[in-house]
Amino acid sequence: MDAVPAAIAEALRRATDTGGHICVLTGAGMSAESGIPTFRGTHDSLWSRFDPMRLATAEAWREDPALVWGWYRWRMQLVRDAQPNAGHRALATLAQRVPLSLVTQNVDDLHERAGSLVDAHVHGSLFALRCFACGRAHAGSLDDYVGGMQRVEPMRCAACGDRIRPGVVWFGEALPDDAWSAATDAAMRCTLMLVVGTSGLVYPAAGLPALARRHGATVVEINPEPTALSAEVDHVWRATAAHGLPRFLG
Ligand code: OAD
Repeated sequence: MDAVPAAIAEALRRATDTGGHICVLTGAGMSAESGIPTFRGTHDSLWSRFDPMRLATAEAWREDPALVWGWYRWRMQLVRDAQPNAGHRALATLAQRVPLSLVTQNVDDLHERAGSLVDAHVHGSLFALRCFACGRAHAGSLDDYVGGMQRVEPMRCAACGDRIRPGVVWFGEALPDDAWSAATDAAMRCTLMLVVGTSGLVYPAAGLPALARRHGATVVEINPEPTALSAEVDHVWRATAAHGLPRFLG
């Protein structure tokens, strides 16, 4: 098994020995080895198979809520059937050893199921259901789902009767204030940022590594492929999440 490259091991040692703080920013590649498709980059990635404008905008929801809800029910089921991978578990263990903030763009719950406390879900969470109209959180359980990708009429809000939507950030929507503020705090406070499994194409989240660097942090990218961020980070490790992250535990 490859060890952590020396310069990255040294950056980790420096960050932890000097009372520093690590911020980990994760993207879809973090969950790829759990079987959750990424958005870009492969023939079976979500945005190469599906049109985000028909499935991930408020306009799409108004146009055809059953289509959108059916697609999200399928994605929720993929996540429910998946298990955290060795990378998720390694981050949970690392957080017990060193001060660590976890900021994710992922809408799955695999970090939490691996035992991590997630400081910020900047793109929301699949399972944080709320009413499309009044915003009230949906307290009940999910509706029945018979499998496959199909149109499913969304559940209704107990308060106002409008439709229940997934708690994700759609294109054109603002990020949740509290999550974004926790993410920028972590980026500004950290001495080392690990950027794992993100293409770095979607802003403002993709601006967090540059923010961390401006505030003096060393930034390390862990990704099997080059990304839009590769040229702006201090060190790059071409490794997958499930392979690379456990190596940080020594
Ligand atoms: P992308 O699908 O854009 O990028 C996935 C990244 O993961 C790529 O850089 C891959 O090289 C990398 N990757 C693939 N397998 C990996 C592995 N096993 N280990 C580590 N890295 C791996 O996903 P994001 O950057 O997360 O937004 O996408 C950002 C946002 O775009 C998402 O949060 C979503 C999407 O539209 C919303 O839903 C609002």
